[in-house]
Amino acid sequence: MLEEIMATRYVTPLREGGSLPGVVEADDLGTYVVKFRGAGQGPKVLVAEIICAELARRLGLRTPELKLVDLDPQIGLREPDFEIQALLQASAGRNVAVDFLPGALGFDPLSWRPDAGFAAEVLWFDGLIHNVDRTWRNPNLLVWHHDTWLIDHGAALWFHYSWKSADPQRPFDAADHVLAPFAADVSLAGDRLAAKITSELLAEVTALVPDEWLEGEQGFESAQAVREAYADHLLARAHGPREWLTAAAKAAPKSGPGSVGAFWKQGDK
Ligand SMILES: Nc1ncnc2c1ncn2[C@@H]1O[C@H](COP(=O)(O)OP(=O)(O)OP(=O)(O)O)[C@@H](O)[C@H]1O
Ligand SMILES: [Mg+2]
Repeated sequence: MLEEIMATRYVTPLREGGSLPGVVEADDLGTYVVKFRGAGQGPKVLVAEIICAELARRLGLRTPELKLVDLDPQIGLREPDFEIQALLQASAGRNVAVDFLPGALGFDPLSWRPDAGFAAEVLWFDGLIHNVDRTWRNPNLLVWHHDTWLIDHGAALWFHYSWKSADPQRPFDAADHVLAPFAADVSLAGDRLAAKITSELLAEVTALVPDEWLEGEQGFESAQAVREAYADHLLARAHGPREWLTAAAKAAPKSGPGSVGAFWKQGDK
């Protein structure tokens, strides 16, 4: 289970995030970035956040610790922005708390050259989870204490908005992926990660999602049935034919002149 904490103070909104996440203090004296259930597309964003971040962690990719945070909207009463008041009201109860990494910098491909194997693993992982949100425009990577941390998986697993057309073979377009110019041997990286992806691991990860965010899904009898559908999809994508990967791998060498890949090659000389 994810640890459960209680929000004690709404500190400030993170306006660079499209879903208006907020910095919040909690009763365990920790500081967190809270992804609110009442934002945008609702609880499915939080389901994707939990499944993908917890899977990433178990595959050896760094991502800040997640907890479930209980929110009483009263804690935001002094916040003057009406939009934030409405968001807090719509998010009373459980939300996702992401451990705040103080002083972390946004990933900048021109000042921080990632390791080729790491870049390939992240590219393959994003392909696995259908993550369209790790582009050079919006990297969703933080650099903290000389390591690169993965954040913001709310836009992944987007097949869950239309389960009937969910396709584990859907190609992944990695042309804009922020790490594509650095990735080498994406297929090998995929083999490394896929070897760790078992049905037991996926059952463990999907079990971390609270029932209340899965119940009532059309076409499913129970929250557990939805968990199994996520696990089956990811298992099939990890271990089935790798046509979706061909599309991802092709993107990596696309880094032509003017790209960050070319920038680093010049710097190497
Ligand atoms: N754990 C964290 N520690 C420190 N800063 C963070 C953390 N999580 C997020 N941030 C900062 O807040 C910004 C917004 O967070 P995040 O990307 O999770 O929100 P979002 O609303 O899903 O954003 P997007 O606009 O990409 O959809 C990040 O780009 C980053 O600068
Ligand atoms: Mg983001």
